[in-house]
Amino acid sequence: MNVEGNWQGKQVLVTGASSGIGRSTALHLADAGATVYLLARRIFDLERVASEIEGRGGRALALACDIESGADLMAAEHRVRQSSGKLDVLINNAGITAHGRFDQSLPAVLRKTMEINFFAMTEVTRIFLPLLKAARGAQIMLVSTPTGLFGVPGRYAYAASKAAGHAFMETLSMELKENHISTHIFCPGYVQTGLRSSGLAADGEVLSEEQEKGAMEASEAAALLIRALARNKRIAFTGLNGRVMYFLRALAPRLLEKLILKKVGSG
Ligand SMILES: NC(=O)c1ccc[n+]([C@@H]2O[C@H](COP(=O)([O-])OP(=O)(O)OC[C@H]3O[C@@H](n4cnc5c(N)ncnc54)[C@H](OP(=O)(O)O)[C@@H]3O)[C@@H](O)[C@H]2O)c1
Repeated sequence: MNVEGNWQGKQVLVTGASSGIGRSTALHLADAGATVYLLARRIFDLERVASEIEGRGGRALALACDIESGADLMAAEHRVRQSSGKLDVLINNAGITAHGRFDQSLPAVLRKTMEINFFAMTEVTRIFLPLLKAARGAQIMLVSTPTGLFGVPGRYAYAASKAAGHAFMETLSMELKENHISTHIFCPGYVQTGLRSSGLAADGEVLSEEQEKGAMEASEAAALLIRALARNKRIAFTGLNGRVMYFLRALAPRLLEKLILKKVGSG
């Protein structure tokens, strides 16, 4: 698949590259000439992605790393530093979902979701920031969700963790202007991935839910993610739902609340 932008020679780190959107993004970017650093916990899956890329003539480095571990992150940064000395793009894609109403969920569910989707994501950004500063015009992207724009019943932990990420990205956009680093938020609709079998249920157990009907393929979502970076979009969506949420939250939040309640109920 041809993707937008000039990626030849770019150094790109993708967190959560062992599956789903992260894996497809890494494959597309490597096909387009980028060197991709693949970061996740499942090293066997990462090595498979790296082999696939190398088999197609691309360049990839698999970095086994739990983003909740400072030691793992420092080791990963060391390997990227040795390999290239700079980073053009950081794609903060690793994440989990969490299903369940606030009044029916264990507090630990919120803590774990915030830990991975927010705190660990900020630590990834902190650790790789010097390498991003070393590249002129670097980009940092957060892979979020329309749910990060406006809470949705039954998704309070997921929504809150991504919304916090939005504020983080917006702040960095201003703080890092002097370093010529831009930030970007990508909010895909439903995508066919393993997210619903890796997230958390209200009781803290691992989710096991069916894929949402009509979910787009990960490869298609990845192409739209790359287009958002190529076009320097501050925030990008893959469908109408996200765009409608974006405008209604500012212009008519009560109407948006009614529409959401009609669509999903109260959770
Ligand atoms: N699928 C959707 O419908 C959808 C919609 C909107 C937004 N998103 C967002 O898209 C992003 C990617 O999710 P996906 O849908 O592609 O699901 P996925 O296939 O489950 O991918 C999640 C990735 O995150 C990694 N990850 C999770 N915890 C980690 C940790 N502690 N350390 C390092 N890596 C970790 C996983 O790798 P390991 O398990 O190997 O560590 C995996 O590669 C998420 O941020 C999600 O919120 C997804």
